[in-house]
Amino acid sequence: LARGAAEPDLTGRHVVVSAGGTREPLDPVRFLGNRSSGKQGYALARTAAARGARVTLIAANTGMPDPAGVDVVQVGTAVQLREAVLKAAPDADAVVMAAAVADFRPAAYASGKIKKKDGQEPDPIVLVRNPDILAEISADRARAGQVVVGFAAETDDVLANGRTKLRRKGCDLLVVNEVGERKTFGAEENEAVVLGADGSETTVPYGPKEALAETVWDLVVRRLG
Ligand code: CTP
Ligand code: CA
Repeated sequence: LARGAAEPDLTGRHVVVSAGGTREPLDPVRFLGNRSSGKQGYALARTAAARGARVTLIAANTGMPDPAGVDVVQVGTAVQLREAVLKAAPDADAVVMAAAVADFRPAAYASGKIKKKDGQEPDPIVLVRNPDILAEISADRARAGQVVVGFAAETDDVLANGRTKLRRKGCDLLVVNEVGERKTFGAEENEAVVLGADGSETTVPYGPKEALAETVWDLVVRRLG
């Protein structure tokens, strides 16, 4: 489908995009984190704004400047990201979860820096599950007709795992990337397959994260009707 540079097909729509990676603190100076840069989420926010949408960007530890014309909410942890998404979702036409959300967080937070003890091995770090934000917003659509999009990073059996994950999460679209040491995380370019709950499969060739973002919005617009 040919489309102009910035056809305003998201005019009058509100979209919520999460970006970056959550950090789960262990003590005041340490955290468990991941390699997500936030670039894909920022590309989604910029392209949605260019297509006329009101955009709420929920940014987790990206260190990037706020994109022009976008409302940015900064968060740190998965629990904070969930609160921000649930707050913005009720009047959103689409929610796109591009953020890498930590599956687990340390069970305890030490209010003082954890210190070494002479001659002793360190204590193990006990983890607990974080809430699954995508599954929650998919199960409990805040608005009729809301389109929910997830991202999945897979290292093996990419498409089969993607299909299973799409069903498990209950979202409308799942963007599946193959990741590895040098693939996707922090890169300028991205390659993906977008799986639809309707059985559709859209391959996005290796290219800039903007191009993948535009394809995601094309698929969202089609579902918004
Ligand atoms: N996600 C989320 N909340 C979580 C974990 C993930 O909302 N606690 C979202 C991510 O933002 C992403 C999608 O779910 O859009 C898929 O994330 P992924 O880590 O691939 O899925 P998981 O269900 O956590 O499965 P895995 O065990 O493979 O990590
Ligand atoms: Ca995960």
